[in-house]
Amino acid sequence: MKRVFSGVQPTGNLHLGNYLGALKQFVELQEDHECIYCIVDEHAITVPQDPEQLRKHILDVAALYMAIGIDPKKSIIFVQSQVPGHAELGWILCCNSYTGELSRMTQFKAKSGGKESVGTGLLTYPVLMAADILLYDTDIVPVGNDQKQHIELTRDIAIRVNNKYGDTFVVPDGRFMKSGARIMALDDPESKMSKSAENEHSRISLLDEDSKIKKSIMRATTDSDGEIRFDPENKPGVSNLLNIYSALSGKTVDEILANQQWRGYGDLKKELVAVTQEAMAPIKRNFEEIRYSEELIRVLNDGAERANAIAEPVMARVRDRFGMGIKL
Ligand code: TYM
Repeated sequence: MKRVFSGVQPTGNLHLGNYLGALKQFVELQEDHECIYCIVDEHAITVPQDPEQLRKHILDVAALYMAIGIDPKKSIIFVQSQVPGHAELGWILCCNSYTGELSRMTQFKAKSGGKESVGTGLLTYPVLMAADILLYDTDIVPVGNDQKQHIELTRDIAIRVNNKYGDTFVVPDGRFMKSGARIMALDDPESKMSKSAENEHSRISLLDEDSKIKKSIMRATTDSDGEIRFDPENKPGVSNLLNIYSALSGKTVDEILANQQWRGYGDLKKELVAVTQEAMAPIKRNFEEIRYSEELIRVLNDGAERANAIAEPVMARVRDRFGMGIKL
């Protein structure tokens, strides 16, 4: 069975972009893969976090993982900082990567641009991500498009180490959704939907009330020509709505367009509101049941133990290849 690893940062309520780009894949893959899903709190602290909020968000993401259908009997769910191998391998890989390649990462440029003082963690963040993946001999990494460059870097580092020290790491592949890989902001379809955008109507959070879902979608930016067609370049707003519709319903955009009788963008939006509310309802219900349960803590502790049992022999192999420590 192929091994899958992916992670999500506990930095706020997850949104439709996270769900359609990554989380939906997590659920699909667990049926016939060995899946490991992480809550990456060591990544979250690359920017300042309020400790109380961070702890809350860790448990929120864990509960959301289960609420969307990740089954802890099939998949491992755990918190990154509970497995020491991530930080240890992160350091070893830092010593095998270059500041040049790291400063070329688009996300680093976006997050550090215009700032006088930039945290070192922001620069080395993709190396920690490479460590997360390589620590488990991962074959497949399901993510959204915005992580493509980080997966390429992970592959480069793995190949570099393998060439220098002999076969050490499995070289992983990214896995991307057809219609959900890049969900754009509702208020600005030129930027991706994100947890941190100021306008709350730029995104749909997985726990949004029905009234909020309706407001955000009905206000979504479109264009003035009134024609409903899929054309991301010239009609990014309408195309984003069609994309979301397609990813949520499992129908292709062509199928959706062939069967519609909309008279304008308002009708498309109303239907999308209904489709979104229906898809989010069970997630919210499940979340309420799980979030404050003792089971959640049990799942995370058990997940950390299982993750560590896979990571430790890989770390032993890495230390051995590099000649670190003493041989027992
Ligand atoms: P994060 O927490 O920003 O996002 C979690 C996942 O959601 C995807 N995503 C999107 N997909 C489509 N449209 C969007 N607008 C959108 N926004 C976010 C992301 O691509 C991601 O798959 N660096 C990662 C976390 C990470 C990781 C890893 C992932 C750390 N270590 C190892 C995989 C493997 C991140 O910041 O994701």
